[in-house]
Amino acid sequence: MTHPDFPVFQGSPKEIPGPEQAMLKLSYGVHVVGSRATNGDLNAMLADWVMQVSFKPRLVAVSIENDARTLRYIRETGVFSVNLLHEKDGDVIARQVVMPADASKVKGRSEEASAQIIHKLANVAYGIHENGCAILDEALGWFTCDVRELHPVGDHTIVVGEVTDGAVVRPGEMLIERELGWEYAG
Ligand SMILES: Cc1cc2nc3c(=O)[nH]c(=O)nc-3n(C[C@H](O)[C@H](O)[C@H](O)COP(=O)(O)O)c2cc1C
Repeated sequence: MTHPDFPVFQGSPKEIPGPEQAMLKLSYGVHVVGSRATNGDLNAMLADWVMQVSFKPRLVAVSIENDARTLRYIRETGVFSVNLLHEKDGDVIARQVVMPADASKVKGRSEEASAQIIHKLANVAYGIHENGCAILDEALGWFTCDVRELHPVGDHTIVVGEVTDGAVVRPGEMLIERELGWEYAG
């Protein structure tokens, strides 16, 4: 029911439904979440949905697709890193890590191509934090987390992490999704 004094919005005339269009207007920074499996394998995932959710303790929430390899690794070891991409050249790293580690997640690939595991960090300069996860040399900054809570939310799982370490690496600001020109919303 609408209030008689409020204007009534008819929705958008375009094909994309109104709620999706509105969600696409949300603004996100672009991050790379680093994770490690119990066998030592590393992974890196491009992620928009990262935010601080508490001061004391200092907690962040990251929403991760239920079938992401990153989520599997985070469940295994209980740690992860968040690298903030730099506005100047973060797009180069974003392109390196955007594909899923499991090539089978990409539709239309041959059986042989689907069987591949993509090592997304192969062409990215990084070091390993003492928690075992990747810290990118060219990040604007980074922080590491210990997992405190996991909350299934629809097709994603919210991972709540307590920040254990972190630093700003370079002067400047974060790369934001609008500048990158890719969308992860709606
Ligand atoms: C701009 C952009 C932002 C993304 N943000 C997220 C995100 O916040 N959470 C998520 O689960 N996936 C996000 N993705 C998708 C993951 O990067 C993608 O599913 C990745 O393949 C998962 O990697 P993994 O299976 O190797 O862990 C985003 C993709 C793009 C292009």
